[in-house]
Amino acid sequence: MRTAWYRWGPVLATLSILLTGVSASGRAQQVAWEKINPAFAGAKFVNDDKSCATCHDAVAHKFDGSAHAEYFKAGKTAVAGTCESCHGPRSKHVDDSKPVAEWKSLTKAQQSGICMQCHAGGSRLTYMTGAHAAGELSCTSCHAAKAPRGGGAVLARARATESCYRCHASTKAQMAKTSHHPVREGRMDCVSCHNVHGSNPALLKHATLNETCNSCHTEKRGPFLWEHAPVRESCANCHSAHGSTNRKLLNKKDAFLCLQCHSYGGHINLPRYNRTSNPYGEGCVNCHMTIHGSQHPSGPKFTR
Ligand code: HEC
Ligand code: HEC
Ligand code: HEC
Ligand code: HEC
Ligand code: HEC
Ligand code: HEC
Ligand code: HEC
Ligand code: HEC
Ligand code: HEC
Ligand code: HEC
Repeated sequence: MRTAWYRWGPVLATLSILLTGVSASGRAQQVAWEKINPAFAGAKFVNDDKSCATCHDAVAHKFDGSAHAEYFKAGKTAVAGTCESCHGPRSKHVDDSKPVAEWKSLTKAQQSGICMQCHAGGSRLTYMTGAHAAGELSCTSCHAAKAPRGGGAVLARARATESCYRCHASTKAQMAKTSHHPVREGRMDCVSCHNVHGSNPALLKHATLNETCNSCHTEKRGPFLWEHAPVRESCANCHSAHGSTNRKLLNKKDAFLCLQCHSYGGHINLPRYNRTSNPYGEGCVNCHMTIHGSQHPSGPKFTR
């Protein structure tokens, strides 16, 4: 039996929402405006930004130069993207000028719901169950809806990192340590590892911590002939992701790192191996050099 091409329409539309995060119809989710404020009941969409501009000249002018205005004009939303897509049906307001939904009086969930009309998919599929939604952040905690296009993602601050440090001062302190991922240097960003819209543990980009690390450090992925159990379990057993005062982002100073789990270095009766009493430079990994796992047939002790 042949399937008419148009039957794929809904499937493709859903796929497109998932992939781009923007609904082709411009309405992935509906907002119940009367629930936000009963005063919206009976109001209709004017769908005419010019009528808003008669009283909101300055705001309308600012909005005109924004990324959103550009996207709306380009018809990226099939349903008219207008002032009212964020501010609700305003036919009554145009007549009586009474405030109905001042942004800061809305709950964070209501604010996010308004943006989610067009942005429910993509990386934000599970935003509402993630740590940032739970932490009472809405989309506009990080984004400025009327910002001009430029810095990308219309963030309230110029760079993602700066917008994060506004609230995560302790991460800033970690990133300032001698050994650190090159975020300070601008070679990567918080969002290289985190999906701030997501809901994974620690809002990581990938399902597990190791998958996140291995997405860049692919050579650590394995599988190895001889696995080192704590590596398989979690890179965080030995590394601090943000920064450390020890070399190579290590949690503990060389030999002490291993001695947390291997009493006496595994060879107490052989003094030449005893790293705690001998100045062997970088310690255990001088000999156990394939510490992340070995492919060598005679590498079960990670010495080759
Ligand atoms: C993409 C969503 C969005 C669109 C579209 C939008 N606004 Fe807003 N507007 C907001 C948000 C969010 C606020 C809250 C303040 C802020 O974050 O800038 C706001 C605030 C306002 C305010 C309160 C005064 C102020 O500056 O805080 C007015 C008035 C306003 N908008 C009018 C308009 C008009 C008129 C248009 C169309 C020309 C428009 N908005 C389009 C999201 C939007
Ligand atoms: C006849 C003048 C007039 C027109 C037309 C008008 N507004 Fe307003 N609007 C006002 C006044 C006055 C306020 C301030 C009310 C206050 O703060 O007490 C206001 C406040 C607002 C606010 C902030 C408070 C709230 O209710 O959320 C938004 C957003 C807003 N208007 C959006 C719009 C949009 C969108 C349109 C076009 C559909 C529009 N306005 C048309 C006069 C007007
Ligand atoms: C009527 C639909 C609509 C609503 C409502 C809406 N947006 Fe958008 N937004 C769009 C479209 C369309 C784009 C362009 C996306 C694309 O083409 O990939 C966009 C782009 C963006 C971008 C990316 C900007 C860039 O330059 O890359 C951000 C961030 C964003 N919106 C945040 C918000 C926030 C925050 C709100 C709520 C205050 C909101 N949007 C409400 C339609 C909407
Ligand atoms: C904690 C801060 C934060 C919050 C909260 C947040 N965002 Fe973002 N958003 C970002 C950052 C940072 C980027 C840039 C991501 C990147 O470059 O990979 C971004 C990117 C985007 C983009 C453009 C890229 C894309 O994913 O399509 C859109 C659209 C967007 N955000 C919409 C939203 C909406 C809608 C909400 C609310 C449901 C929201 N954001 C909540 C920080 C945030
Ligand atoms: C407006 C304040 C604010 C901003 C801006 C902000 N965050 Fe958050 N963040 C929070 C809150 C609140 C929580 C939830 C409570 C907590 O775990 O600290 C949180 C949680 C997190 C978590 C998860 C913590 C956990 O233990 O699960 C990560 C990761 C995170 N934020 C990263 C970022 C990144 C990356 C950015 C920048 C794109 C950012 N945040 C911007 C306030 C903010
Ligand atoms: C190299 C990857 C990577 C980068 C880059 C990164 N993070 Fe993280 N972040 C992680 C991992 C992994 C965890 C979870 C640590 C754990 O569970 O032991 C984490 C945890 C967090 C937490 C939860 C609390 C904590 O410290 O454990 C916050 C908040 C956070 N990161 C914010 C940020 C901010 C802000 C930036 C940018 C300045 C950033 N991260 C950059 C990988 C990274
Ligand atoms: C987005 C890519 C990316 C991700 C994801 C990533 N890293 Fe890195 N990592 C880098 C870059 C870039 C460097 C710096 C390499 C250089 O300077 O040559 C680095 C360096 C390192 C170093 C060496 C630091 C030093 O002082 O020499 C360690 C250890 C490390 N990463 C561990 C991790 C761990 C653990 C994770 C997961 C929590 C992780 N990385 C996730 C890109 C990444
Ligand atoms: C059992 C402790 C331990 C675990 C777990 C561990 N590492 Fe390491 N890692 C080390 C030590 C020790 C060094 C320093 C090696 C050296 O100096 O020769 C290191 C160095 C590194 C380096 C920088 C030098 C290099 O070899 O490229 C990267 C990148 C790295 N680790 C990534 C990871 C990733 C990704 C994971 C998780 C899959 C992980 N590590 C898990 C102990 C560990
Ligand atoms: C978080 C705990 C932990 C840390 C930290 C750790 N290891 Fe291990 N290591 C293990 C476990 C568990 C095994 C598997 C033991 C087994 O199979 O009996 C193992 C196995 C080994 C083996 C093979 C032993 C054998 O009996 O075949 C060597 C060698 C080794 N580790 C060296 C090191 C060195 C060197 C370091 C420091 C860079 C280190 N380990 C850090 C937990 C750890
Ligand atoms: C001079 C090189 C050298 C140094 C330094 C060294 N090791 Fe070893 N280690 C070896 C060799 C070789 C073996 C394998 C011995 C064998 O197969 O009998 C071994 C075996 C082990 C084993 C497995 C013991 C067993 O029962 O099979 C562990 C665990 C271990 N080392 C941990 C450490 C730790 C932790 C340190 C640092 C405190 C360390 N080693 C420093 C060379 C070294």
